[in-house]
Amino acid sequence: MSEIKEQSPLWGGRFRKPLDPAAKKFSSSIPLDNRFTEEDIAGSIAHVTMLGECGIISSEEAAQILETLTQIGDEIKSGVLIFSDGSEDIHLAIEDELTKRIGTLGGKLHTARSRNDQVALDQRLYLRKAITRLSSSLTLLQTSFLQKADAYREIVIPGYTHMQRAQPVLLAHHLLAYVSMLGRDVERLNDCYKRVNHSPLGAADFGGTSFPINRRAVAEKLKFHDIVFNSIDAVSDRDYLIELASGCSIIMMHLSRIAEELILWSTVEFGFIEMDDAVSTGSSIMPQKKNPDIAELIRGKTGRVYGSLMNLLTIMKGLPLAYDRDMQCDKEPMFEMIDTTTDCLSMMKLVIDNTIFKTERLKAALHEGYLTATEVADYLVRKGETFREAHRITGELVGHCEGNKIPLSGIGLFELHSFSSKFETDVFDFLDPEKSVLLKISEGSSSHESVKKQLAYWKNKLKID
Ligand code: ARG
Repeated sequence: MSEIKEQSPLWGGRFRKPLDPAAKKFSSSIPLDNRFTEEDIAGSIAHVTMLGECGIISSEEAAQILETLTQIGDEIKSGVLIFSDGSEDIHLAIEDELTKRIGTLGGKLHTARSRNDQVALDQRLYLRKAITRLSSSLTLLQTSFLQKADAYREIVIPGYTHMQRAQPVLLAHHLLAYVSMLGRDVERLNDCYKRVNHSPLGAADFGGTSFPINRRAVAEKLKFHDIVFNSIDAVSDRDYLIELASGCSIIMMHLSRIAEELILWSTVEFGFIEMDDAVSTGSSIMPQKKNPDIAELIRGKTGRVYGSLMNLLTIMKGLPLAYDRDMQCDKEPMFEMIDTTTDCLSMMKLVIDNTIFKTERLKAALHEGYLTATEVADYLVRKGETFREAHRITGELVGHCEGNKIPLSGIGLFELHSFSSKFETDVFDFLDPEKSVLLKISEGSSSHESVKKQLAYWKNKLKID
């Protein structure tokens, strides 16, 4: 009996046999949650300080536990102390180590606390840091786009819808659309942070405790904005994590779209950009090839993050209150989505910083695809046609040009009159793609004025001179 006791874990009092080794391996979470070491120790320090302050343990006891916890934390940080995969999880491993060093006094640390409180706490502390990191990676990527937009502020490119040439737009306007999308990603993260930033400690497993703890003091020590008030709720939801997974999925969806466009634009068919050798790879068989692998990998890794979101939603969907061990399975998708999204953001920044736009090619592309057709239709509206009629006339004109393989600007006034008597010499200003951009006046359009405003707005927001 005493032998079984010696081997048994901290919760082993009522057990007659140790856990089957295969079941132990199966249920251990330490290979993953050892990434919570710093958070777990910080949480224990705050908890034990509060226990001392509230007189639940003596101040001498609190001081001794604190000193040893700090020591353990330092040793882990410097790599002197490493926990083996044999422990059940990081929470028990640290408490075990504490008890090894200070004996039964170590057992007082867990007064009025459960591992369920610790898991939720560690996760929230970790997520606060992860969100801050993700947010600054997003800002750095926005800055890269902004710098490109500024550098190419005069360049006009063909804009597309349905992947068909549609209208001329400023390249800067196109790039600033990405800055704006990434800006909403930052807002989403900031919003999620508010809900992460509540302390679950003091739930005491789920029902609260009869000890006179001070939950708010612990929350304050750990710089939480507030506590999760309902003790059952405090340990049994992961909605804040799922919210982050949604935020990461949306970020990855944006990155994947950007990647897709970069890949397309780097083809011989488009030839709009060139990615530097530093972000391209070669083919093992075809010597001429330069592949956009980094962008492709970003696009490819998007699925992992969507997978994490699905994984988390599925783990949680059937769980009755309060904590269920299923929730331990949230660690894999959590780390996976944070690591992948953080990596992909910095890789995308590297790609953008190492991409140049081929301005001559972009200029030439403006003269294919009848990009100014909408301006011609709008011109006819201003001369008194209804928009529908103007649309029909311009469509016929484009059909004629296509049949004769000439650009819209290649047609003379005399010929234009066979389509509408409303055409006058000033129509030629509307046929030039670079000039047509100057005609835009609506707020938020692809006009130079609007791009100037957007550049100023984002430079100010991102604090760039
Ligand atoms: N390793 C577990 C997790 O990550 C710790 C919680 C276990 N709680 C319990 N009451 N068995 O969720």
